[in-house]
Amino acid sequence: MTAIDKDKVYQQLTAQAKSLVDGVDNVVGALGNVIALLKEELPSFFWVGFYVVKEGSLQLGPFQGPVACYSIEKGKGVCGTAWEKAQTLVVPDVHQFPGHIACSSRSNSEIVVPVFHGGEVVAVIDVDSEDFDAFDEEDKRGLETIAQIVAPLFAAGY
Ligand code: SME
Repeated sequence: MTAIDKDKVYQQLTAQAKSLVDGVDNVVGALGNVIALLKEELPSFFWVGFYVVKEGSLQLGPFQGPVACYSIEKGKGVCGTAWEKAQTLVVPDVHQFPGHIACSSRSNSEIVVPVFHGGEVVAVIDVDSEDFDAFDEEDKRGLETIAQIVAPLFAAGY
């Protein structure tokens, strides 16, 4: 997909994600719908889901793709590192990332985007691809916008 196409897709996704989240108090359902939207519209997403901060670790939330690990500690793997650093991580080759947690041997690149609420990381969006170097600035911007859209869902906890 060219950068321009991707930008357009993310613009449409942003509008759709807003309509799925606004005024909805079914947190798990809304997060699940946003993941379904991403998986449908971006077929290169091999695994996409939320890990939610709960009781001191990242717990598996709504996702689509192969089965995944339930819990990730702070500072561990790509997800736990993105949480600890409170910043988006783009990993072009997961095999080169020290401590990468391989939920699926088919994953070759990954992006993890924190969701902030009240100045804290409350969850991360994790996306895996079977392609190397699948994620770029467009994905970072697009997924960070999606993270902002879902953030209010965490106001009442998860
Ligand atoms: N690869 C992640 C673990 C989660 S799975 O990709 C679904 C990590 O290193 O944190």
